[in-house]
Amino acid sequence: MDQYAVIGHPIAHSKSPRIHAAFASQTAQPLEYQALLAPLDGFVAAVQAFRAAGGLGMNVTVPFKLEAFALADRHTARAQTAGAVNTLAFDESGILGDNTDGAGLVRDLVHNLQCPLAGRRILLLGAGGAARGAMLPLLQAAPSSLTLANRTESKAAELVRTFGHYAGAIELHASSYCALAGAQFDVVINATSASLAAEAPPLPDGIYAQDALAYDMMYGSSDTAYMQSARAAGASRVADGLGMLVEQAAESFALWRGVRPLTAPVLTALRNELRPA
Ligand code: ATR
Repeated sequence: MDQYAVIGHPIAHSKSPRIHAAFASQTAQPLEYQALLAPLDGFVAAVQAFRAAGGLGMNVTVPFKLEAFALADRHTARAQTAGAVNTLAFDESGILGDNTDGAGLVRDLVHNLQCPLAGRRILLLGAGGAARGAMLPLLQAAPSSLTLANRTESKAAELVRTFGHYAGAIELHASSYCALAGAQFDVVINATSASLAAEAPPLPDGIYAQDALAYDMMYGSSDTAYMQSARAAGASRVADGLGMLVEQAAESFALWRGVRPLTAPVLTALRNELRPA
């Protein structure tokens, strides 16, 4: 059996082994996928040991995505622009680093949630690693505008500068939260880690356009703080990031195996488990 793994610290909570086992059985691919806990100062050694034992690829999660970027010999364009790697593929010529998070987000929005992005006004909340990873795939989806708002506005401005030359005709803006007052958006994506602290970014009233979708990259057994605040503020649809998790996994699987698994049954199974009826 071909060997793959997800590596992180902590890792016990990871749903990736279940997701990839389901993809493997659905596509009849002969592979095994395990979870590896690396010591905080032992990421590179753990990857090298896994590769030396015949491993073909890894997913990388918190807190190692920057170290994985540094370790890779070559990068896909989306990993290069994200500045972080969540997928490693090993072959004789070295280590390829990819980043499937942003593509997973866009696929969840467009295919699973039937929320088109082309020509629409997107608001991205946050300017850390999660936001940065989403930038190129969101710009490639050709919205009419992409506004980045962050608690520390200078970080949003820096991301806008970094991605300016990918924007073409797309209006790209940086903003503070309070300066959003008076603007409206069709799609609002929370890429902050505020939900981990049961908090929501402090958005002004009235930012959700008619039929707007409010999306949180986080997920849990109940609605996140951001989802609750968006609903209370009039967003007509809210969604969490469970679909993004499954879609980024499918992108990694397709990179490794050349086969794209069906995500819907896996997403349904995880959803039922997370929120039993
Ligand atoms: P990640 O890799 O998950 O993006 P990160 O790089 O540490 O993590 O970035 C965290 C993001 O969440 C940042 O945009 C941060 O805002 P600041 O840049 O101002 O720190 C944002 N964030 C974290 N907690 C927040 C909160 N309670 N309210 C609003 N934004 C928050």
